[in-house]
Amino acid sequence: MWAGRHVVVGVTGGIASYKTCHLVRRLVEAGALVDVVMTPAATEFVRPLVFEALSGRPVLTSLWEPGRALAHVRLGQQADLIIVAPATADFLARIAHGLADDFLSAVMLARTVPALLAPAMNDDMFAAASTQANLARLAGQGYALVGPERGSLAEGPSDRPGRMSEPETIWHHAARCLSRGSSLRGRQVVVTAGPTREHLDPVRLITNSSSGKMGFRIAQAAWHRGADVLLITGPSTEPPPIGVTVERIVTTAELDQAVRRALPSADVLVMAAAPADYRPTGSTDRKRPRTEGTLMVAFEPTDDILAGTRALRKPAAITVGFALETGGAVERATAKLERKGLDLIVANDALEPGAGFEVDTNHVIIIEAGGARIDVPMASKAVVAEAILDRIEARLG
Ligand SMILES: Cc1cc2nc3c(=O)[nH]c(=O)nc-3n(C[C@H](O)[C@H](O)[C@H](O)COP(=O)(O)O)c2cc1C
Repeated sequence: MWAGRHVVVGVTGGIASYKTCHLVRRLVEAGALVDVVMTPAATEFVRPLVFEALSGRPVLTSLWEPGRALAHVRLGQQADLIIVAPATADFLARIAHGLADDFLSAVMLARTVPALLAPAMNDDMFAAASTQANLARLAGQGYALVGPERGSLAEGPSDRPGRMSEPETIWHHAARCLSRGSSLRGRQVVVTAGPTREHLDPVRLITNSSSGKMGFRIAQAAWHRGADVLLITGPSTEPPPIGVTVERIVTTAELDQAVRRALPSADVLVMAAAPADYRPTGSTDRKRPRTEGTLMVAFEPTDDILAGTRALRKPAAITVGFALETGGAVERATAKLERKGLDLIVANDALEPGAGFEVDTNHVIIIEAGGARIDVPMASKAVVAEAILDRIEARLG
């Protein structure tokens, strides 16, 4: 996503500018070409030398440097994205009113490309009527905003907004700003992830070792592409994807209910969850002690969610299933694709090292209705998620 992208990172005069060093590093590591532009006040907080070393490029701080005439217009119109982090109250006021009295505000006035602002300031400065009016004005001018968040400020803890969003959060919002051409933009995407649990008694249960990683990566990547994403997940320790609405369920029956609620408005359903296929026929409401001897448990099949909810799908919705098998994955997946009326199915083999449950990588074969088959080589689940979304987008048209 970032390889070959040209990003301008604007830095203004706030304490949070030290965090912007991490953001620049993250963007450069991801393959972006980064030009850092600092206001004169910003250079009082972090020396330009730091950003020059991190970006590998000269830092722009003044309109009046020889050899850089019109560089502000070029950057505002030729970059793929402009991020300003932190954006001070003063800077927000200047650009909201079209001032262009330093290099960065001149870039913003000349800008024709997407821009993301990460405001950061004292909580009273943020709550001030003038700051709020400026932010509303900037949103109306097409700026994307991230934060500020509640939490500790330089002057101490606060439960009111003011603190700049973390570099990682800004990075995810920036990725979404780059998604302008995606056919997922504005679509409702529902992703299921993780295992389900079926209890034998209050403390014992049957489940599987699904970590949720694959579904969480798909949800995050779909949000980057501009979709509104609902992630319905069983128990998972993965951190919630940025920007995604997360609904937590425990049992297969709860997953079924959540999917039924979400389906009527879903343009895309990706069923990456690994629901328990069996549940005990009964459970007790007390922990059964070992002294009671042999425990006999009978299991019954749980509901087939994909088949059972088929009639609830929107007519043009894209439905994606997963088939985790232990051998014969492609044949079984192809049969499942047809049986359940899917558009795509993602087959992977639980026995292949580096693929399937728990690990951070996967090797999958995407099988499409109509017969196309794409072998996605072993890669991180984030990369595999992009490959799956590429196929979904191709079918959405
Ligand atoms: C120690 C210190 C910390 C500051 N932190 C912030 C801040 O976090 N947010 C903010 O809006 N202004 C902050 N200011 C005030 C700005 O630096 C000041 O308004 C300046 O004019 C901003 O210029 P710029 O927007 O061109 O970078 C701080 C000032 C000082 C002295």
